[in-house]
Amino acid sequence: MNASSPLRVLFVTPEIAPWMKSGGLGDVSAALPVALRAAGVDVRVLVPAYRPLLAEFGDAQCLATFSSPGGALAPARLLTATTGQGVPLLMVDCPGYYHRSGDAYQDGQSEDWPDNDLRFGLLGKVAALVASTSSAGWEPHIIQCNDWPAALALVYLRYMEKSRVRGIMTVHNLAFQGVFPATSLQRLGLPPEAMAGDGAVEYYGKLSFLKGGLVCADHITTVSPTYAREIQSEALGCGLDGLLRGRSDVISGILNGIDTGMWNPAADTHIACTYDSTRIDRKTENKAALQQLLGLPDEPAVPLLGVVSRLTWQKGIDLIADIVPQIMGLPAQLAVLGTGERKLVERLTELAREFPRQISFRAEFNERLAHLIEAGADMFLMPSRFEPCGLNQMYSLRYGTPPVVRATGGLADTVVDCSEATLKSGTANGFVFTGTEAPQLLAAVERAVDAWHDTKGWKALQRNGMRHDFSWQASALRYRDLYRTLIPSA
Ligand code: ADP
Ligand code: GLC
Repeated sequence: MNASSPLRVLFVTPEIAPWMKSGGLGDVSAALPVALRAAGVDVRVLVPAYRPLLAEFGDAQCLATFSSPGGALAPARLLTATTGQGVPLLMVDCPGYYHRSGDAYQDGQSEDWPDNDLRFGLLGKVAALVASTSSAGWEPHIIQCNDWPAALALVYLRYMEKSRVRGIMTVHNLAFQGVFPATSLQRLGLPPEAMAGDGAVEYYGKLSFLKGGLVCADHITTVSPTYAREIQSEALGCGLDGLLRGRSDVISGILNGIDTGMWNPAADTHIACTYDSTRIDRKTENKAALQQLLGLPDEPAVPLLGVVSRLTWQKGIDLIADIVPQIMGLPAQLAVLGTGERKLVERLTELAREFPRQISFRAEFNERLAHLIEAGADMFLMPSRFEPCGLNQMYSLRYGTPPVVRATGGLADTVVDCSEATLKSGTANGFVFTGTEAPQLLAAVERAVDAWHDTKGWKALQRNGMRHDFSWQASALRYRDLYRTLIPSA
């Protein structure tokens, strides 16, 4: 890469915080491009023009109009604006698709929008057009597609003749694949060969966005080294492990970073009292504020366990519910913030009713409370059945709130189990368990609570976590190295 011609990367995503966020992908799409630009990469983010984005960027300029993008896809405009952090945004404006209540994928009742094939087909089509024509007045060397909603761009590009752009498929969660009936093919304006036999998108007679992206990509990345291995196994390959094993030479795992500006206990405006590793004692003020806010008794001598999570099978929330009676007996308090599956919401609501003096459950999406839980809890529970990377355990480490996690994906790559040896070597920063049964989680929680009662040892554990650099800088350099291997001449 030379100074006059930086690497140009089109980063395609269905979420970008703070305007549209369902989970970690929103955080990643906001923070990674900033770090990439600081590393000299000319990255631009392509995202649907959701209402909050249009409200923020009222001065967005129109670069192009796509009046008949193909199949049953609705017409769209391509808008551009620059974020406060200097990242150029390209926004696909199609009010009929993107001006809706609910989140990026679902309505307020947690039901997928029935036309998600068209909504994200359009995102992919516009991405492919931007990547292969001069519609944005800028031609990228690389297109990086994040998760299934962006994946179809790589399929469209395969069937566009002149395209020279190299494609990366980045998997944040293999469990979400964007599978639709075969009839979607025509709606999306894809040629029949895309579906025939070994066609890129064909998946057991249906059409899979993610499979298409994985087949057509020049390189595949995922968000932690351990998850890069796990997705090639039958247990966590979600039906795509055979395909992925066949492409293992182009798969890499690059650990996510965290936004250390937004998640910084020393300057966090959402919490009651800022602190750093030299003033960890001030966490107690946050604990008291959290207990007060949640209506839990102010009991400094009882450990407070925090959870901030999507409430799904992936996150092992049911395992936490299973051990509530034992947790209550320790004794301990439990603060849960999360939205998701109705059954889990009902179960947690019931438990909070049964133990009102020990459990608080808030079924809402609340950024501020998420920060206060990270700061005020004594430890953080994340017993995920699988976790591609996970951001919350890194927020917890930074906030001196040791995480209790299952050894999987990014959790295994970031949390070091507390033992005599790891305490001695200064690497211990949390509690890790293996297995998928509730008693295994309980044993880890009991170990953590025992350790918490030893104030001096606990402080060492907190400091080890707080010391670690989880910023995006290192990951951005890894992505830049990868881009360079794909475009050696740039
Ligand atoms: P995932 O993307 O699988 O949900 P991550 O740990 O990567 O898991 O990221 C989750 C992100 O979403 C974090 O920033 C977390 O704080 C946030 N989050 C999840 N649920 C809530 C909620 N109910 N309120 C506020 N933030 C939430
Ligand atoms: C996904 C994964 C999560 C990861 C996030 C950002 O939502 O479930 O583990 O941290 O994407 O990459």
